[in-house]
Amino acid sequence: MTNQSIKKVAVFTSGGDAPGMNAAVRAVVRTAIYHDLHIFGIHGGYDGMINNRIKRIERPDVANIIQRGGTVLKTARSEEFRTKEGREKAFSNLEYHGIDALVAIGGNGTYTGAKILGEEYNIPIIGIPGTIDNDLAGTDYTIGFDTAINTAIDAVDKIRDTAHAHSRLFIIEMMGRHAGDIALHAGIGSGASKILIPEKSTDLDAMITKLKRSAERQKLFNLIIVAEGEHNGGAMAVADKIIAGGFKKEDVRVTIIGHMQRGGSPSCQDRVLASRLGYVAVDGLMNGKRGMAAGIISDEVVFTPFDEAIKGAKPINQDLVRMAEILAM
Ligand code: F6P
Repeated sequence: MTNQSIKKVAVFTSGGDAPGMNAAVRAVVRTAIYHDLHIFGIHGGYDGMINNRIKRIERPDVANIIQRGGTVLKTARSEEFRTKEGREKAFSNLEYHGIDALVAIGGNGTYTGAKILGEEYNIPIIGIPGTIDNDLAGTDYTIGFDTAINTAIDAVDKIRDTAHAHSRLFIIEMMGRHAGDIALHAGIGSGASKILIPEKSTDLDAMITKLKRSAERQKLFNLIIVAEGEHNGGAMAVADKIIAGGFKKEDVRVTIIGHMQRGGSPSCQDRVLASRLGYVAVDGLMNGKRGMAAGIISDEVVFTPFDEAIKGAKPINQDLVRMAEILAM
């Protein structure tokens, strides 16, 4: 039985953009139209909701976007939405357009905002995990993660060429905020000598001793991947410690891959994941679901209450961590 009271749904993207967000928007819009709903796009996330940047979306508006990175709806991180006054303005704009329900695409901050708004104003909201960090509970993978790790290994492969040519030690920093998933996966995929992640503390002295032994065997060439949230303080700090540990400054180089990891055309895996989640989000709303995030676990659709999805940061895969250690040095 479908929820007859929902007639107008709005979709928005919020927080850091992630490749595949457009594919998710497209799926939300097309599924909503299939259900004879009126669909709106909120431009610029919660900020756009507060400032009434809300427009009807028609089917042609989402043509030719499945392959595009970024987000056609734009995104933002809104401080104002954290305030009660900000949310009041946002909800009055939703009311003005007669919007009955929302689909929120983003990460942890997006889910937190959705949970609060949904509870304060009793509006049904479904979340879709859109972040390159892969740090949300309630789904095996977040939209954008697969593209980000493929961009990252592409960059590392290129760095490998020059590192090998000059027999240099490269420290490469990857995004992920407090999570090490990007660094772990891209590190394994690019055959790094060492992967430093926030979820596991690394004994840098022991690592430097090993690097020295390998340099003595005339193998200075090494690639070390560092997650930005790692406890030593990122790639620059790790490089400083390696130089202080006895390596020549001219033999050590740092590359911070940075926002490149957030851009680009989404991989097929991200497009399929986004299409699937966009579709089930609207389907879930029509079937009475609210206050939950849609996800895919072991190829099955699951809905996780926002509370659980926010609190339960996804644990890193310890099997992969162990394997990476064995395959590395
Ligand atoms: O959450 C996605 C992410 O790219 C993180 O990996 C990173 O820490 C953060 O966003 C960077 O945010 P900003 O673009 O606002 O500096």
